[in-house]
Amino acid sequence: MLFLGFLLTKPKVKLLLTADFHFHKPWFDWILRVADRYDLVCIAGDLLDMFHPEGVVPQLIYVYEWMQTLMKLQVPVALCSGNHDLLGNTPILVPGVSIRKDKLPILGEFAKHRHWLHSLKMNHLVAVDDDSKIIRTRGGEAITVVCLPYAADGHVQSLNPAAQPYLILHHEPPAQTRIAEPKDGSREFALVVARQQPTWTLSGHVHFTLGAENDFLQRIGHSWCFICRQTPPAVVLPPEPNFIVLDTKKSEASWFHWPSLEKAEELKVPLPYPRG
Ligand SMILES: [Fe+2]
Repeated sequence: MLFLGFLLTKPKVKLLLTADFHFHKPWFDWILRVADRYDLVCIAGDLLDMFHPEGVVPQLIYVYEWMQTLMKLQVPVALCSGNHDLLGNTPILVPGVSIRKDKLPILGEFAKHRHWLHSLKMNHLVAVDDDSKIIRTRGGEAITVVCLPYAADGHVQSLNPAAQPYLILHHEPPAQTRIAEPKDGSREFALVVARQQPTWTLSGHVHFTLGAENDFLQRIGHSWCFICRQTPPAVVLPPEPNFIVLDTKKSEASWFHWPSLEKAEELKVPLPYPRG
């Protein structure tokens, strides 16, 4: 019965999965250009850059206004925090950087929340850290997205999904997997995946590494687990970020990535439903 029930609720959705923008503005602009092609836009952490020369405040103002523009497209968005989004070690404002007076109300919005990411929850279309939210698409389909925050001590507080099927966003990929290599990954997130067996997961944090295998997808139990292997921060970056398109109607996932600055490559794989 459970099996049949799952098949009956199999939604036809097209998701944009990415991560690790590290406050590279052209990639935020790119999202605004492409977002309305998708049922849900997911960014799995490190929106900000803890080493940015202007400090935190200009980044927060930019991201808030970017989100306001994105919301005009009426596309659902899911965000989770990454290590660069923990503001403890980042200068709030760097001497010599001025903030326009008309931007100060935006800082007032951030002041209302314990974590800045919650300020981006501007309406019912947005899910952020600690949310387990059913996303309803324009086509009447529904999936759940669960956003698990990054913590400096590695702790992962799991959340029950509001409904099946569901996608978990967590910045650090599960430990002892190919999608975590060449890093270690998160042991606690690996336990969450093993225990809950979500339909899909999306992580970031481990960037594209020349000479490494750079797997973007791994099946773990019943789950399909993704990582977009973002191009690491550099003076010159490709015009678009690395990203994954998960299309459940076509039963496939495509990874678009930039092995060099000259040319992007697409890797497409068939992706049956984990229990289908
Ligand atoms: Fe990271």
